[in-house]
Amino acid sequence: MNILLEVLNLKKKPLKKLSVSLKSKSYEIYFGYDILENSNYILEKYIKDKSIIIVYDQILEKNLKFLSGSLSNITNNLESIGVKSGEKSKSLEMYSFLNEKIIEKGVDRKSILVAFGGGVIGDLVGFVASTMLRGIDFIQIPTTLLAQVDSSIGGKTGVNSIYGKNLIGSFHQPLAVLSDVNILKSLSKKELISGYAEIIKHALIKDKIFFKWLTGFGEDIIYGNDELRVEAIYKACNIKREIVQEDELENGPRALLNLGHTFGHAIESYVNYDGSLLHGEAVSVGIILAYKLALKIGSTSSREFDIVLNHFKKVGLPTSIKQLTDKIDNKNKLWQLMQNDKKFSNGKLSFIIPEKIGQVKIRNDISSEVVLSLLKEEIEK
Ligand SMILES: NC(=O)c1ccc[n+]([C@@H]2O[C@H](COP(=O)([O-])OP(=O)(O)OC[C@H]3O[C@@H](n4cnc5c(N)ncnc54)[C@H](O)[C@@H]3O)[C@@H](O)[C@H]2O)c1
Repeated sequence: MNILLEVLNLKKKPLKKLSVSLKSKSYEIYFGYDILENSNYILEKYIKDKSIIIVYDQILEKNLKFLSGSLSNITNNLESIGVKSGEKSKSLEMYSFLNEKIIEKGVDRKSILVAFGGGVIGDLVGFVASTMLRGIDFIQIPTTLLAQVDSSIGGKTGVNSIYGKNLIGSFHQPLAVLSDVNILKSLSKKELISGYAEIIKHALIKDKIFFKWLTGFGEDIIYGNDELRVEAIYKACNIKREIVQEDELENGPRALLNLGHTFGHAIESYVNYDGSLLHGEAVSVGIILAYKLALKIGSTSSREFDIVLNHFKKVGLPTSIKQLTDKIDNKNKLWQLMQNDKKFSNGKLSFIIPEKIGQVKIRNDISSEVVLSLLKEEIEK
């Protein structure tokens, strides 16, 4: 245990840690409170005296000083670049802008980028790091619930194409991940609910007991019980960690983490990432559609579906396309966008289909007629 853990324990501020062990790289995820101000203690072993460039979401201007203040204790070479967030920033234009800006600031092969923001900043900066000077290290400091439970770990980085989400990218694992729940306090309720969708996704994929726990504490997690938040983030990350360790490059079981995403990505793409809906909201509706598809093909029971649906409704997660947006009115267009998703290969679309709570399966045998009939019911009802 390092000095920081002892200090924080003395102050009764728990700090949890998970280790991700992969072929390409192994790294730690740190969870807890007051991590930003103490980041120098945690990060010293990675970045002492190296040149650091923090790429931050402009909305975090005020928080940046805590992070910079702390890191300036361990390096004299600290730069920062503010970026406007939102899904539109996950673009080749922003990727190109950021590359030039970083080179202008001065970068060498030992420089480290720090992604300080939500999933958009993390995905974008990770992708820049993976190609800058043929690959430099980066650290994730996720600032949304969604990024803390999902996007900051596992090493998927990238930007969107006009043809679909995340179509341009790479696998590039971070050097470390620092998740501080204090920073979540400024998130809107809508953002928190969106992040909660990815927590519940992890439970539905692999852990029935975790799901049951969430049905008891979901609202407390969303509305700000810090201890429960740390616990939920830790549990969700642990599930993702186990799956990614088994299949880093998504040749098999890692695809399970895409539960709800074939529908969700198409929904986001349909509205052209216009900011009217959040990623987690689209995933939430996507998970419910995956359940409805599972009901249609008889792979889950209506009892299991009702339990899931009731929990989604109770915590305020959107459960239908109509509830989310009135911009989606053409089932064929939505189906076309689903086929642009990465999960389409050899003429077959892969779906992650729920069986029981805590158990899902990859299925490549679902006919387009069944999917289209579901989309028809969903959009034209
Ligand atoms: N790489 C992966 O494995 C993976 C997994 C899941 C999702 N994702 C990606 O993550 C993205 C969604 O992430 P997101 O929901 O964090 O989006 P985001 O980064 O756009 O953040 C959402 C909003 O919250 C604001 N924000 C960020 N931190 C804040 C804070 N502490 N207080 C107040 N506001 C804050 C942002 O400015 C933005 O308006 C999507 O692009 C999705 O594809 C990636």
